[in-house]
Amino acid sequence: MTILALETSCDDTCAAVLDDDGRARSSVISSQHVHDRFGGVVPEIASRHHLELVNVVVDSALEQAGATLEEIGLLAATQGPGLVGALLVGLSTGKALAAARRLPFAPVDHLQGHVAANFLTDGDGGPFEPPFVCLIASGGHTLLALVTEHDGYEVLGRTLDDAAGEAFDKGARMLGLGYPGGAALEQLAAGGDPTAFSFPGSPGEVRRGAPRKAFAEGLDFSFAGLKTALLYATRELGSEQTAARAADLAASYQAAIVSSLITRSERALERTGLGRLAVGGGVAANGELRRRLGELSATVHVPERSLCTDNAAMIASAARYGRRLEYPDYLSLDAYATGETAR
Ligand code: KG4
Ligand code: ZN
Repeated sequence: MTILALETSCDDTCAAVLDDDGRARSSVISSQHVHDRFGGVVPEIASRHHLELVNVVVDSALEQAGATLEEIGLLAATQGPGLVGALLVGLSTGKALAAARRLPFAPVDHLQGHVAANFLTDGDGGPFEPPFVCLIASGGHTLLALVTEHDGYEVLGRTLDDAAGEAFDKGARMLGLGYPGGAALEQLAAGGDPTAFSFPGSPGEVRRGAPRKAFAEGLDFSFAGLKTALLYATRELGSEQTAARAADLAASYQAAIVSSLITRSERALERTGLGRLAVGGGVAANGELRRRLGELSATVHVPERSLCTDNAAMIASAARYGRRLEYPDYLSLDAYATGETAR
């Protein structure tokens, strides 16, 4: 059954057509660079742009796939988590397209989508099959999941404060780079010494309150302390020295984020005894992370970059295995802003 999926949870308007065998026939991503000058995504502007773009993006996904609406057997869209106003554009469009043809509709959890990117058949061959540990590191989320089936996962650890991508973006801003800053910080770090500054790579303590079980066991993430350490370092150095040592600061900061991701992934692999790790989210585009992943003594699967960052092919992939509702049961579905629906 051919699937048409939409993803509008943040600032990318995405649509994709997926074949029966899990091969994406098209995956169209329209990024709204209009937010860059605000240093972050402005929800109201994001919703408005999704509205303007969504029909064009759906049309081009169909066109690039050489498909027509008549051929589509299942519609899907991200239901949450994300910006509610933004999510509603994709969700309503998906429901309307399904209802017009009395087709079934699959509401998809965005994080399940990042996991399901690993089930796609890509250029390198077949899908990566469960069981595996999955590290998702993006601008909005950072978590380790235990994936034993195609539909659902168990959360092993998550960030207690900022997401890894958010840490990259905030660090980039402190070093005078634009938004989003992950890729720019990586570029700057390439000319620097990762051992020049010692930043907290893996915060061993929770500063307030009792540690949660997962944190005590070391599977939760925390990036707030690291961000503060960079802020203090730049204050101590002063603006002139900060500029002169920007590459060293970037390299040390990046090494700390990557180490935090790698250490916990390694621990999760040890604890589960699975020996298989999949990755997702925009931070998976980072060369230093990819290099360190390659050093792990595990079978590691990293989807191609365009499937790591937000896209609709991963939503279609999740829809292939997930819950689907018949017409008209999905008409009253609403978007949700937060929370993981781990099953
Ligand atoms: O998955 P994604 O496209 O969107 C969200 O779901 O958030 O992830 C975007 C995040 C941003 O924080 C961006 O700075 C980060 O991924 N990112 C990177 C790199 N490319 C994108 N972080 C580090 N190195 C990169 N090369
Ligand atoms: Zn995402």
